[in-house]
This record gives sequence, structure tokens and C-alpha cells, in this order.
Amino acid sequence: MNDLELENVLKKVNEELTSVGDLNTLQQVKAKYLGKKGLLAIFMSNLKNLTIEARKEFGSMTNQVKQALENRFEAKRKELEDKLINYKLNSEAIDVTLPGVKFNTGSIHPLQKTIMELEDLYISMGYTVAEGPEIETDEYCFEKLNLPKGHPARDMQDTFYINPELLLRSQTSPVQVRTMLAEKGKPIKIICPGKVYRRDADDATHSHQFMQCEGLVLGRDVTMADLKGALLEMARLMFGDERNIRLRPSFFPFTEPSVEVDVSCGKCGGKGCSMCKNTGWIEILGAGMVNNNVLRMCGYNPDEVQGYAFGIGVERITMLKYRVDDIRNFYINDVRFLNQFKEVK
Ligand code: PHE
Repeated sequence: MNDLELENVLKKVNEELTSVGDLNTLQQVKAKYLGKKGLLAIFMSNLKNLTIEARKEFGSMTNQVKQALENRFEAKRKELEDKLINYKLNSEAIDVTLPGVKFNTGSIHPLQKTIMELEDLYISMGYTVAEGPEIETDEYCFEKLNLPKGHPARDMQDTFYINPELLLRSQTSPVQVRTMLAEKGKPIKIICPGKVYRRDADDATHSHQFMQCEGLVLGRDVTMADLKGALLEMARLMFGDERNIRLRPSFFPFTEPSVEVDVSCGKCGGKGCSMCKNTGWIEILGAGMVNNNVLRMCGYNPDEVQGYAFGIGVERITMLKYRVDDIRNFYINDVRFLNQFKEVK
């Protein structure tokens, strides 16, 4: 062991480091020289065999070499770390000019859209939105609406019965009954959108489950003119400002007089075409002044309070608005159909 050997150590380390390309290998090389059992440690342990003079000189030289090695290893470590960071920066760089990934977006279902529009309109006119259960009692769905058991008008709605007293509601009109019983003679101004069920065979214009939006307004001087105004607003909102409505006499057990309401045909402007069967008009809903029997059965005095009710077919007006020719399209969730409504605002 002599000076030459020490100098050689430095040379050898420099040589070895040129081929070191990663931090792990660097650590191993460093341990070989500077570790507890490394070469420098062996040099140090041999110092005790030297004379005091030689020990001094050789000891200080060993320390210098040790310092030089540490500097060298540190420099190499920095170099490798910088290389790694640069590599990562380059390989993980984001090319902001690449085209983006397109996500499929959903859209509001056309029936839901209609309901939201009806709610906005009627809320702006001072109505509130009421709700009722889809499993109803025979009493609320029929009897209190002036349709006693055995009444022939019950045939107008073929109903799913759960038992003789419980049924799937065939109309949203029982919400009228519930609201009147709860309000106990006070004025009422509600709409009630919701699902209804009928024992109809499904085809292009029938569905065993569909939606209605009921309206009920009760107060002191509520007249049929108010009813017409409320429905004209609705028709113009849904179909356009140029549309008109007309009221035709009809029959519902819970209203007297009763009307069926038509909207002027949008395709021919009222002249007559295949869409309106040459009449210029298309039926959109049923309505009327609340029957006195209903008022009485629900706790209202017909001498003091009167009002109107209407029942809008949500599918019906949505089909007319968007020219949908098969009601089943609303329920099967075919995205090709639903996508048509993405752009509809
Ligand atoms: N409930 C009736 C129907 O389903 C519609 C309607 C509601 C008619 C309110 C008049 C008043 O056919």
C-alpha cells in the first residue's frame, strides 16, 4: 500500500464511473470504495501498521482521496438525477395540439323536457306543483270524482286493479281530490305532472303507462274564460305564438261543462291536411269546470267556490311538437331516437 496505489484508486473510480448509467449501480460502486468494508476503509485500518511519520502523511492523503471520491460520486449522482428528470420531462410531455377525446353526453328526455316547460310556465302563472301516489284508491281515482262503482263512464279508462279498492291510477285527477281534501275549502292553483296506467295494448299511439299533467284552479270567480287563457298560453308555449285553440263540448264525469281542447294544425296552418285529418285542428287535452258533485264530496261549497280542471297528455303534446309518430319511442331508450333531442333547446 503506497501513494501510487491511492492515486490509482482515483483513476480507477473515474474509469468505472464512465460506464455507470443509473443510480443503483452508482450506489454499488460507491459502497465498494467508500463503504464500511470498502477499499478506503481497508486502507485506513492498515494505518496502524505504519510508523508515526508515515501514518501522518499517508493518513492525510487517504483523507484527501476520500474527500475527492465523495465529490466525484456526488457529481455523478447529480448528473444521473438530472438525466432522469430530463428523460421524464421529455417522455411525459403533453402535446396540446392533439385532438381531444370526445365524451358522449346525455340529454334531457323529451317527456321530461315537456314537463319542465309546463312547470316553468304554470309556476310563472302562480301555480304550484303537486304530487300524488301512483297506487291509488278506487275512492280517490273514481268515486270522489263523480264516478261511482258501476258508472258506465268507468269504461272510458280500463284500469289495472290491485284489489277491489286499490289500483294503478288511470289519470292524475285523484291529485285534485287529495289537494281539495287537504286544503279544506281554501283556494287552489296546482298542476300535477305524473305517470298513469291503463290496460291498453301497446301500439304506435297507445301505451299501458304514460304521463299526464293535471291542472286544478279553485277560487271565488274562476271562469271558463280563465281556463281558456291558461290553455292558450300552454299551447302557444309548446307549439308557437301563431297557434290558436278551440274548445269543443265533451263529457267527463268530474267536470260540467266539459270540453275537449284542440290546437290549430301547425303543418297546414289550419287549412286542413293529412296530419289534422283535413279539419285544421288537433285534439290535445280534456278539461272543464269542476263538477259541483266533486266540489261537495271534497269539502267545497259550490255556491262559494268554483273552478276549472284540465288534463294534458304529456306524450300527446310532445309527439305533436316534435312530430314523433310512435309513442313507444319514448320508452325504449334507443339513443338514435334520444340523440335527436340533444340540440333541442
Ligand atoms: N282525467 C281526464 C282523462 O284522463 C282528463 C281531464 C282532466 C279532463 C281534468 C277534465 C278535467 O281523460
